[in-house]
Amino acid sequence: MATPIIIDCDPGHDDAIAILLAYAHRDVLDIRGITTVGGNQVLEKITDNALRILSFIEADIPVAKGAAGPLLGKLVTGEEAHGESGMDGPVLPPSLARPTDQGAVEFMLELIRSSDDKITLVPLAPLTNIALLLTAYPEVKDKIERISLMGGGISYGNVTSTAEFNIYVDPEAARIVYESGIPITMSGLDVTDKAAIFEDEIEELKRRGPVSVLVGELLDFYSIYGKKMGYVGNALHDPCAVAWLLHPELFQSRHLHVTVETEGKQTRGMTVADQRKKTEHAPNVEVLVDVDRTAFINLLFDSLARLDQQLLAARGV
Ligand code: RIB
Ligand code: CA
Repeated sequence: MATPIIIDCDPGHDDAIAILLAYAHRDVLDIRGITTVGGNQVLEKITDNALRILSFIEADIPVAKGAAGPLLGKLVTGEEAHGESGMDGPVLPPSLARPTDQGAVEFMLELIRSSDDKITLVPLAPLTNIALLLTAYPEVKDKIERISLMGGGISYGNVTSTAEFNIYVDPEAARIVYESGIPITMSGLDVTDKAAIFEDEIEELKRRGPVSVLVGELLDFYSIYGKKMGYVGNALHDPCAVAWLLHPELFQSRHLHVTVETEGKQTRGMTVADQRKKTEHAPNVEVLVDVDRTAFINLLFDSLARLDQQLLAARGV
C-alpha cells in the first residue's frame, strides 16, 4: 500500500528534483498534495514554479499556497542560489493549472482529516506552514505518521556557520516542529552535502530523455552557486528527504535529541543535537549522517528515466 504524503516546498531547483523523484515512485509514495511557502524565492514565484514542474510532467496534483514569510520578521530568500525566478536555468512553459482556493494549512488539514491512513509530511523548505498547522490544529498530530524533512545540520550550517537555510529562515517555526513529538527524519547538511552529483553525471543526464535533460539543465544553473561557495559537486539536498522514504537502507542515521536555537546571536537557526553518551533528553529525531552516494545517484537516474519513458509515451513519441 502506497504511503500517503504531502510535500511542502519552495521550488527551488532541488525541490523540483525531489518532486520528480517522488512522482516517479507514485506507486510507493501517494502524493496527496503539494503546498508552497516563501523561501528560495517569494511565494508567487515558488508557487508558479511548482505548477510549471507538475505541468511539464503532466502530473495532476493539487497545489496550495502557504505562508509568504516566516512567523517572525521578514523573508530572507535564496535568490543567490536559485536565481530571480527561484528556478533559473531552463525556461519551463507556464502551467494552465492554478493553485487551490484553500490556503496550505486548511488544505493540509482537510487532506489529513479525510485520509483513512496517517499522512507523512515531506517539508523541503522553511517550516512555517507545518508550524502553523500544528499550532492551529494540534489534534492532527495523531494522524501524521512521520515528518521526513530537509533542513538543519548537526555539524555546520550554510547560511551562517551554524544555521542551514530552511531553519534559518524561520527558527521559531522549526522549533515548533522539532518539539511537536511527531517522529522526524532529518536530512540535514551532514547527509545532503554527501549526496552530491558531479559534472560528468549532469552531462549524462543531458544526453537522455526530456525529464532527465530538464534536471541536467536545472543542475547546470544550480551548480554555479555551489562552485562559487567552494563546493565540489552539487548537493542534492531536498531529494534526500524523498529518497529516505523510498530506500532508507541507502542511509546511515543517529537517533538524537534535536531542538532549534532561536535566541543566539551566533546560533539563531541552529539545530542543536544532544550527542552526549548520557543525557536527560530522549531522542526525537532520526538524523541522517551518511548516504551510499552511488546508489542514491543511480536511484535518481533510474527514476528520471522512468519519467522520461512515461512522458514520451504520453506525448505519443
Ligand atoms: O539548505 C538547502 C535548502 O535550502 C534546500 O531546501 C534548498 O531548496 C533551499 O531551500
Ligand atoms: Ca527547498
